Amino acid sequence: MKRIILIVVGLVWLGFGETRGADKVEFKKDIQPILQKSCIECHGPEKQKGKLRLDSKEAALKGGKEGPVFIVGDAAKSELFRRITLPAGHDDIMPNKGDPLTKAQTDLIRDWINQGATWPETAVTAGSDEASAGKTKLPDFKPSAAEIKAIAELEALGVSARPIAMNVNWRQANFYPLGTNATDKTLTPLKEMIGLVDLNLAGTKITDNGLVNLANLTNLNRLHLEKTGITDAGLAHLKGLKNLHYLNLYGTSVGDAGLEHLKGLSHLKNVYLWQTKVTEAGATNLLKALPKLDISRGWDLVVAATDKDKDKEKEKAKEEVKK
Ligand code: HEC
Repeated sequence: MKRIILIVVGLVWLGFGETRGADKVEFKKDIQPILQKSCIECHGPEKQKGKLRLDSKEAALKGGKEGPVFIVGDAAKSELFRRITLPAGHDDIMPNKGDPLTKAQTDLIRDWINQGATWPETAVTAGSDEASAGKTKLPDFKPSAAEIKAIAELEALGVSARPIAMNVNWRQANFYPLGTNATDKTLTPLKEMIGLVDLNLAGTKITDNGLVNLANLTNLNRLHLEKTGITDAGLAHLKGLKNLHYLNLYGTSVGDAGLEHLKGLSHLKNVYLWQTKVTEAGATNLLKALPKLDISRGWDLVVAATDKDKDKEKEKAKEEVKK
């Protein structure tokens, strides 16, 4: 039975050519992260709301309780696309809780469906049976050959690029131990590290130019840039990091102009701006674009500091406020 479905799927796939116009969307890079982040929780191995699973090609094509949810090649007639583009608060909108997808994300899904909804067989797919057979519930990720090579390069440089959990390939990389020995050049392998979710560059000697290597790390969740030489211009390279939740800019010379580049990062939850050039007006301006953002300009860090450091930090923060 399974084989028959696969053959049918294959035929359907061959049958639809690509439509021209939009940039070619890549499932793994553009679509899978969106599904993983916003849909799999309710349409994956754990729960199948509306009898719909979006964690494998086969299941996604089968559709939900009302049948297929997208028509390959025709986003406008696809239930899935209708659901994600409804006005916020609509009864049918998906995801049905939390933030709606951004326009950029729904555009990607539209283009992906219109271009034939290519879904590589090997793109496993958030917690499909294979992944849920493992110990972890985290959807796995398959690194490319280039990424595997980059991991080895980083390790040769003394940077650990470890998986974030057992049996997964999502990784965290920490340059902090290299300190000022880490320069822009040390960051070159990062270009290939699509599976990176956590990156620590704090206290390194990197500059704005080094951040060019981060431009494609669309799965990055946390980024430490504190105490580096980066400035406003460097933050322009972070514009595409749509999954960024946490950004630490403490002790950099970033100012209000730099924050402009962050306005499109709709998932950003925490930004640390202690000892930067950002003004109250700059912070307020960013909050207007990202109302749910939590901006720390000093005091929260004081609370987070250990008891021993607390008084020292408090004094420092007070001085900062006076300035
Ligand atoms: C918090 C849970 C939750 C999340 C997250 C979620 N959904 Fe749903 N989804 C549901 C529920 C509940 C239903 C069934 C009720 C309904 O049809 O509205 C459903 C139904 C659907 C249906 C209709 C299936 C059918 O055949 O009736 C589609 C299509 C859909 N979801 C797509 C998505 C997409 C795409 C995402 C991610 C962008 C998503 N959902 C995220 C809970 C969720």
